[in-house]
Amino acid sequence: MVTVGAAAFPAARPEAAPRRVTILGATGSIGTNTLSVIAERAGSFAVEAVTANTNAERLARAARTAGARLAVVADPAAYGDLKAALAGTGIAAAAGDDAVREAAERPADLVVGAIVGAAGLLPTYAAIRAGRQVAIANKECLVSAGRIFMRAAAERGVTIRPMDSEHNAIYQALGGRPIDEVEQIIITASGGPFRTWSRERMAAATPADALKHPNWSMGRKITIDSATLMNKGLEVIEAHHLFGAPTEKLDALVHPQSVVHGMVVFNDGAVMAGMGLPDMRVPIAHCLCWPETGPLAGRRLDLAELGSLTFERPDRARFPALNLARQALDTGDWATNILNAANEVAVAAFLGGRIGFLEIAGLVEQTIDRVSAQSVPAVPDSVEAAIALDREGREIASELVRMHRTR
Ligand SMILES: NC(=O)c1ccc[n+]([C@@H]2O[C@H](COP(=O)([O-])OP(=O)(O)OC[C@H]3O[C@@H](n4cnc5c(N)ncnc54)[C@H](OP(=O)(O)O)[C@@H]3O)[C@@H](O)[C@H]2O)c1
Repeated sequence: MVTVGAAAFPAARPEAAPRRVTILGATGSIGTNTLSVIAERAGSFAVEAVTANTNAERLARAARTAGARLAVVADPAAYGDLKAALAGTGIAAAAGDDAVREAAERPADLVVGAIVGAAGLLPTYAAIRAGRQVAIANKECLVSAGRIFMRAAAERGVTIRPMDSEHNAIYQALGGRPIDEVEQIIITASGGPFRTWSRERMAAATPADALKHPNWSMGRKITIDSATLMNKGLEVIEAHHLFGAPTEKLDALVHPQSVVHGMVVFNDGAVMAGMGLPDMRVPIAHCLCWPETGPLAGRRLDLAELGSLTFERPDRARFPALNLARQALDTGDWATNILNAANEVAVAAFLGGRIGFLEIAGLVEQTIDRVSAQSVPAVPDSVEAAIALDREGREIASELVRMHRTR
């Protein structure tokens, strides 16, 4: 990443033993990229534990290649396959949600939170409570329970390293300067595959259309979030918690080239931009190596070859999810929690062919309305309360999907 501006990081630490890293969600897009950076920096890192949901074969392969001590699947039904695939390797196998949480708590220098969705809440939170340093890709944790996560991190002296490319760029552009000196934080969006589509065309978009992201190769859920721009909404909420920035200081701009990932406008008008080719290995390497910057092979940004960078305001009529997320942030923690839960249900329903593309945002809005009509929920003050509220949001959203299908 070419970062414009100085980053005020501590001095490099003396030569040390390899850093022990645990990867939650090791079989996914972020998990695989994390393992690829670790493989490139052999000697600098050692893998403590890797986890997945059901994909035992892929997890076992990752554990063997990385030389992990422990591999865990959340789904107990996948335990037999995992155990068989690890036979004779000396790598321990375990299964179940409690085993994933225990893996997150094991001594390690860094835990990478790369589970998708609210399923990542408990294990990522457990890592923070155990005092592990954490790099977070799983933005849903911060959307569902950001205040609880940030409070736990402060109490335990944990620095949450932002792995999401936009937040990583902003973190570097901020260079440790206080939020009082910042006028605006700008998160960029590629605009997704439907940036230039009419609303009528978007209404008929299939999952295959929505999964064709123009610039990034990512997991299915975040790719759909990018197509609705809910991803940017989630990222605005994520930035609010990570950087302590009020809503009015947070903005999103469409930037189809995905080269500028984030910008910070300071009080004096100076703008620092975090830039780089769209390659998640760059922010991942930053989080793994922090506070140093380690070498990473790969293509480099050539601005002359690119010629021009363009920016436009998001079309909030075709992409209402962005406003929904901002409104939820202004409403309060219960609303961002329900927004996230309903969005996960709606994205799964769209991918399963049960609702249309434009109905994703509608379903999220209806779920928030229904929850507040029943009685405004209390602000969740513990991770357990956040999970209970998430469950309530999912039930209502699932009911709305069922009603939609019988219409
Ligand atoms: N991909 C990107 O470039 C990118 C960029 C920025 C931020 N992020 C964020 O990073 C997170 C991961 O995204 P991704 O694209 O890497 O997702 P992904 O490819 O779908 O991978 C998700 C990972 O989570 C595991 N998992 C799923 N459900 C689980 C459960 N109930 N319990 C335990 N583990 C579970 C999966 O295991 P199985 O393989 O067994 O299903 C897999 O290892 C998301 O929050 C996303 O928003 C991603």
